[in-house]
Amino acid sequence: MSSPGGLSPPYQRSLPGGASGLHVAIIMDGNGRWAKARGLPRSFGHREGVAALRRTVESAAELGVSCLTVFGFSTENWRRPKTEVLELFGLMRAYFESDLKRLERRGVRVRVVGRRTGLDSDILNMINNAETRTAGNRAFQLQVAFNYGGQADIVDSARAFAEAAARGEVDPSALDERTFEERLSTAGAPALDVVIRTGFERRLSNFLLWECAYAELIFQDVYWPDYGPDHLRAALAEFGSRQRRFGGLAPGESLAAS
Ligand code: FPP
Repeated sequence: MSSPGGLSPPYQRSLPGGASGLHVAIIMDGNGRWAKARGLPRSFGHREGVAALRRTVESAAELGVSCLTVFGFSTENWRRPKTEVLELFGLMRAYFESDLKRLERRGVRVRVVGRRTGLDSDILNMINNAETRTAGNRAFQLQVAFNYGGQADIVDSARAFAEAAARGEVDPSALDERTFEERLSTAGAPALDVVIRTGFERRLSNFLLWECAYAELIFQDVYWPDYGPDHLRAALAEFGSRQRRFGGLAPGESLAAS
């Protein structure tokens, strides 16, 4: 028997080309506090955060991750002082300029998820260039959530569906989980397996709200600039010890219940 909606969770999405492995998302928190603890300006923490990102991308593929989504800039981060916003945009630009060639060579497909509105044309060009150049790569997928908010992405998907319905292109009764997620900026990515948050906080901060439905949540008490392969290894070991039931029963329990 199928579920009432006709879908059996999780709403498994596959990476075009069939790459397998885990989809891990990371909230890279604690850059500011890392810097403050050293008497340095927050910008130093963000810069060290880029170094930690580089280390993590390198080690992720080796540890069985096929897709990594990182939270680079949220729709709420515009509330930070203008200097910090400029610093984060500058680091995003610098990261793409310095790392794109290497990522491309290593078969990494780069995607940027989030709202494109409100971004300067040079950033938009940089994003389009990175996505186009790496579109055919299949070894690993790196998704940078930039100008991204989980609620905003859900609203944007709902609006896109409503507009298509108003134009007569879709039947409103056709809306289900699958047609809804097809309009998210993350559409096409594999189902999310695990969200890691560093920085001593225990919240999602509007990250991948839809995608988190059955993701495992792992909180690691380390500031992001100190993050490295051993932390990722530990997180994946914890993930491996979790039993995922997706709303059903554990295999043994299913047999006992029948
Ligand atoms: C949270 O630390 C981190 C961010 C808001 C941005 C993360 C950005 C980077 C790691 C660098 C640039 C990113 C890319 C994609 C190139 P926080 O500032 O909130 O730290 P705090 O909670 O200690 O203040």
